[in-house]
Amino acid sequence: MKSLKEHARAKLNLTLDVGARRDDGYHEMRMVMQTVELSDEVEITLTGDGEIRLRTNLRYLPNDRRNLAAKAARAFFDAADLPGAGAGIRLRKRVPVCAGLGGGSADAAAVLRGLNVLTGAGFSPERLEEIGRAVGSDVPFCVCGGTQLATGRGEELLPLAAMPAMPVVICKPGFSVSTPELFQRIDSRRGGMHPDTEGMLAAIGAGDARGVAQRVYNVFEDALPPHRLRTVRELKRRLIDAGALGAAMTGTGSAVFGLFPDEATAKAAHASLSGIWRDCFLTLPVDSVL
Ligand code: C5P
Repeated sequence: MKSLKEHARAKLNLTLDVGARRDDGYHEMRMVMQTVELSDEVEITLTGDGEIRLRTNLRYLPNDRRNLAAKAARAFFDAADLPGAGAGIRLRKRVPVCAGLGGGSADAAAVLRGLNVLTGAGFSPERLEEIGRAVGSDVPFCVCGGTQLATGRGEELLPLAAMPAMPVVICKPGFSVSTPELFQRIDSRRGGMHPDTEGMLAAIGAGDARGVAQRVYNVFEDALPPHRLRTVRELKRRLIDAGALGAAMTGTGSAVFGLFPDEATAKAAHASLSGIWRDCFLTLPVDSVL
């Protein structure tokens, strides 16, 4: 039986801007996305029984077609015209779920990459991204990862130069925010601040670590319910007090990240924040996952 293991790496939104709601119900996005080392482990086995069987180490996660990893396997077999093929998928989750870190999308993209190898289908990365679109808006980015500008629904991708190799501390508060609810809240709140996306692109292009850190910004923070915003602000303040050059929430939250100037400062921040927030990680940006 053929099987392999893939890392499904988390993503951060260095910037996140939301535009108008479209006729299809999705919103126009503009986000600078970044892969980090923090990952789930995805073990994929190719079977010949037409079934997709999923197991995870988290009992509360769905293991049927609601799980993006299973959805991705089905989408892959349809695209490759392999109706009789099946897969066993084992997810070892380390990336916090419902955190804005794209863990489910990363798992799905890892399944697409893995099945591409196991079946010998030989799809190009662009074709895998296309298959990923139907699975979820963040899945195409996760196919190649690295540093990219994502627009449209999030699936139109422009690869960028690698961001400076700054240590990252990520903390997830104990609550999650519903993605559709946050999009609704942002629709009823117009005229707020926007990230300096062009400035971020220039800072990345120039390898300017301080410039990148100073421009991290996510419009979803401003749409949070007030009691959630208080926690996110406190977390950001603690990251900055601990030496981060910039901090922001990622995706629809509730995870918050800080970008640090050096490893020693990041390690000390991680040690002190781990005592307050259980889900706290020290990680690094990754250039590409392919
Ligand atoms: O594409 P995905 O399934 O990840 O999206 C989840 C939900 O997030 C959508 O049903 C929609 O409510 C919202 N969304 C949006 N605009 C986007 C991406 C997601 O409104 N560009």
